[in-house]
Amino acid sequence: MLDPREMDGGSIEIIAEKLRNAPYAKKFAALFGERVFKDPRLLVAEATFAVSRYQIEEPGFHPYTSKYDYWLEGRARMSEVELRGLRLFNDPEKANCAGCHSSQPSREGFPPRFTDTQYEALGAPRNSALADTRDPGYFDLGVCGPIRKDIADQTQFCGMFKTPSLRNTAVRRAFFHNGVFHTLQEVMDFYNFRDTHPEKVYPVGADGKVQKYNDIPVQYHANVDVSDPPFNRHPGETLAMTAQDEADIIAFLKTLNDGYKPE
Ligand code: HEC
Repeated sequence: MLDPREMDGGSIEIIAEKLRNAPYAKKFAALFGERVFKDPRLLVAEATFAVSRYQIEEPGFHPYTSKYDYWLEGRARMSEVELRGLRLFNDPEKANCAGCHSSQPSREGFPPRFTDTQYEALGAPRNSALADTRDPGYFDLGVCGPIRKDIADQTQFCGMFKTPSLRNTAVRRAFFHNGVFHTLQEVMDFYNFRDTHPEKVYPVGADGKVQKYNDIPVQYHANVDVSDPPFNRHPGETLAMTAQDEADIIAFLKTLNDGYKPE
């Protein structure tokens, strides 16, 4: 709520003042007690709690009406291409997407969330279209700042972002935390070429050197994941995916869009 690039709320006090004057202030008092209005921090904390309950209880936030959901329930038929894509998505030695974007229902039987909710530094290339990046000293380091400040001194987390869900990802027009990719093809090429052909992913400097991980300061490059496939490869080694594999996985990703009509 405070991030100037997002809701730009100004300060806890400003948000608290808005809540005190909101049309639903009376309901708020009924729920949390009159005293809540006296303490801005508590007031804003209760408001965010209310929002999170709303997102949990309102089915519109998680309809689970994708083709993949219906297929898991035996109510839809996936095409050959989509099934090949799913197998590749789950293959731990190659694409390994499911290693982080979990594709299986939970133990309690809840639909798969396509995120393990863990934090990872993948080293996405810098997005020069963002105004902030005109300052060569500006880096969005995710968990360790500069926007989030609570664990800024834990530098082993610098460059890490939470694995996003891939539900409805195929309808998006910008991917990764800095929006540097605009098509799923670009995303797939990032995963496939980052380590074997980094010159296809990052800019090449005047000295002819590839500027790998150019959106993370050098002292944090060691935080980038180089062990989980497909990121465990080296220049010259076999690619994790063929062009056909990439296309198949993209076809599978499209089965994760909500609003599929089963027969
Ligand atoms: C090691 C964990 C890991 C693996 C393996 C992995 N991902 Fe990701 N994925 C992430 C993280 C973390 C991000 C967010 C990175 C960022 O924003 O900088 C992400 C972002 C994405 C996004 C962008 C989503 C959005 O809304 O911006 C897509 C699409 C995606 N991954 C697809 C895949 C596919 C397909 C594979 C397999 C080829 C895969 N991922 C393998 C962790 C992983």
